[in-house]
Amino acid sequence: MDPRLELADLARQTRDYLRYMASLGVARLPRVDPPADARPEPVPDALNATPIDAPTPAPAAGTETLEDIRADLGDCRRCPLAAGRAHIVFGEGHPRAGLMFVGEGPGRDEDMQGRPFVGRAGALLTDIIVKGIQMPREDCYIANVVKCRPPENRDPLPDEAAACLPFLRRQIAAVRPRVIVALGRVAAQYLLDTQAPLAKLRHRFHDFQGIPLMPTYHPAYVLRNPTVGRRGTWEDIKLVIDRLNRD
Ligand code: URA
Repeated sequence: MDPRLELADLARQTRDYLRYMASLGVARLPRVDPPADARPEPVPDALNATPIDAPTPAPAAGTETLEDIRADLGDCRRCPLAAGRAHIVFGEGHPRAGLMFVGEGPGRDEDMQGRPFVGRAGALLTDIIVKGIQMPREDCYIANVVKCRPPENRDPLPDEAAACLPFLRRQIAAVRPRVIVALGRVAAQYLLDTQAPLAKLRHRFHDFQGIPLMPTYHPAYVLRNPTVGRRGTWEDIKLVIDRLNRD
């Protein structure tokens, strides 16, 4: 990975983690000193800059479990979407899935059941996974940009996404999928931090923290526009299957 991208990723993870800690009411983080034998030679006092408390880095990939993340999320009230939800839709699937799907947010059925993609769009996604990719749905991991239903199924607002994305990033780090599929413009734009239209993003892999990410059409769009949507989604999914079959 390009070291500049790596650094940008690290900065973003750190910022998300600090925001998350702040949302828990933690105003100051303890300084973490390295073990004594790893300490460099002391610097003469005159050369010492004012010490800055080092932020605790974001959890490294794979160091926390999905259960840890769910426990941290708790009965989340970090954004106004909490007020209108019936259930938090955390995400579901194999904790070590090779393939992860990310949608934009729960709809009515998902809000009622507390599970992602269980309505009509979910039935189509299940078909894509089971019949197209030929994988049991339970072998994937499925999550959303926001975990609570936006009113009238509108797009999540930037503040809502900002409150929720740190949890999704931590879920991705915990699962460490080999490929991520972003379902629709909203998921693709928030995950890739871009305003580019889906037409410019789909049908090629992007980098998400070292993981190849394929943006494709949202299944709800495919239901509304079957001709364009089905063909395009299949073109994208074939690239995903090729990637998963590569060593
Ligand atoms: N649409 C989404 O983006 N996510 C769901 O979970 C269901 C529908």
